[in-house]
Amino acid sequence: MIGGAQKRIGGLSQSAVFSDSSSYQSFCLISAFLGIIGHSLNGVYFIYILGETHLETGSYSFDGFTESHKELERLKQQAQQIEPFETSLLQAAGLKPGMKALDVGCGPGVVSCLMARMVGDDGDVLGVDASDDLMGVAEQMGQAAGVNNLSFQKADIYQLDLPENSFDFAYSRLVFQHLTDPQSALKKLLGVLKPGGILCVADIDDDWLSIEPEPAAFRTLIDRSTRVQAGQGGDRFIGHKLGAYMESAGFNDVDVHVMPITSKMMGMKNFLDIGLGFRAFATSNDEEHEVAKRELQTLSELSHRPGSWGFLAIFASMGKK
Ligand SMILES: C[S@@+](CC[C@H](N)C(=O)[O-])C[C@H]1O[C@@H](n2cnc3c(N)ncnc32)[C@H](O)[C@@H]1O
Repeated sequence: MIGGAQKRIGGLSQSAVFSDSSSYQSFCLISAFLGIIGHSLNGVYFIYILGETHLETGSYSFDGFTESHKELERLKQQAQQIEPFETSLLQAAGLKPGMKALDVGCGPGVVSCLMARMVGDDGDVLGVDASDDLMGVAEQMGQAAGVNNLSFQKADIYQLDLPENSFDFAYSRLVFQHLTDPQSALKKLLGVLKPGGILCVADIDDDWLSIEPEPAAFRTLIDRSTRVQAGQGGDRFIGHKLGAYMESAGFNDVDVHVMPITSKMMGMKNFLDIGLGFRAFATSNDEEHEVAKRELQTLSELSHRPGSWGFLAIFASMGKK
């Protein structure tokens, strides 16, 4: 048997790969009783286990963070620090009072709450996310915000169990950089939108990330975390690709807004926490994790240095069904 990891394929889990036909055939005999199916391709034999599908979270799994309270704080900050920016982005994308909206990969629900306020009492918002823990946090966030047109549901972006043609607006923020199959996710979102409904996908592109002055630790931290995220199926350079992805998934009138964020908007400390804090976790082993933490520590000294700057860009790709 070759290959160990489970992989999401449609509604099935690919869970084993055989390189010789005799072991595959013996397996088929047993499988006939267990409800397992298989196929062969170019002499390689695949089997699929029916039933509950493995949840594919690509390069982000909140439930897998060892210091999840720190990551939760970072996610909240990341959303709260730039709320005015977020409001303008959602307005530019076409979110309006009365709309039925979806926040996909909503995380702790900070942006879902903002969307709920924007659509008002005549609209409603559903936040969905793959993480059980984050859905719990989001529920509390919604209650604390006092919005009653907001609900949350655990869901995998690839297998949204939602009616077709049912949403006016869908938003996905800082999720697509983690997906192994952005095209499938886009097609799923196209399905749940009403005709004329709008999708806005917002994400980063590391070609647009820079700080000044640039300590050596910045480049090593960025290079390592980018490599690790790519190894898990993510893409830190997805920003400039989103427009093309949306057009090929079948969206119309696609437009991309590149929106700059600078350390001036939130202070250098917050910029570093939000823009780089995640990087310490994007490591393949404990040793790298320690190195990354030291690099972050070095970079944090810039927070107190007058004249230091940070720049990044959010690519917001918008299109209609
Ligand atoms: C960096 S967080 C962004 C959270 C939120 N959108 C925000 O901006 O605050 C990425 C989110 O994507 C979610 N996610 C990753 N893969 C997913 C999938 N396949 N289906 C649904 N959510 C997913 C994660 O659980 C996580 O909450």
